[in-house]
Amino acid sequence: TGGAQELLLSRIRDVPDYPQPGVVFKDITPLLADPEAFSVLTEALAEVCVRHGATKVVGLEARGFILGAPVAVRAGLGFIPIRKAGKLPGATLSQAYALEYGTAEIEVHAEDLTPDDRVMVIDDVLATGGTAAAAMELIRRGGADVAGLAVLMELGFLGGRARLEPTLAGAPLEALLAL
Ligand code: PRP
Ligand code: MG
Repeated sequence: TGGAQELLLSRIRDVPDYPQPGVVFKDITPLLADPEAFSVLTEALAEVCVRHGATKVVGLEARGFILGAPVAVRAGLGFIPIRKAGKLPGATLSQAYALEYGTAEIEVHAEDLTPDDRVMVIDDVLATGGTAAAAMELIRRGGADVAGLAVLMELGFLGGRARLEPTLAGAPLEALLAL
């Protein structure tokens, strides 16, 4: 609803010139510190999981963990962490992806994904879409289906939605706020 969106938007702080000059950082810590706003956010993302028939929730380290874990509990689903490389102790699948400068790598425990799973990917921000694309590749390489991608906010001017279209392959992209 409009009221929920207004509440969420009011708890996101713009930080100019962070982490570098010319970038406006979207700081969600005021939202996390407000139990009503955090609850509204959790409820909205859990509803997206249920509506799209998800069987698991994936959270993307680090901010996607903060949002994804309570969403999984609220939706009654298991939580799977996708971590930055080198943090998971078991047998992993790895996926490299491009950053503005250089590359990054994310990993998942292979045993966490099964062919019966429909996985909803949760993150705070969709920017260029590189992180989310790599996550969806990992999930499919693990043999599971992608139920969708759900984010608190989408930064439209960075074109992530268009870039993700081939990777989404028809799966829904739900952004609670389009900025
Ligand atoms: C940020 C953000 C998203 C990602 C979006 O994560 O939380 O995960 O970038 O960017 P993209 O769409 O261009 O890939 P980041 O890895 O910077 O930091 P975090 O560990 O604080 O989540
Ligand atoms: Mg992140």
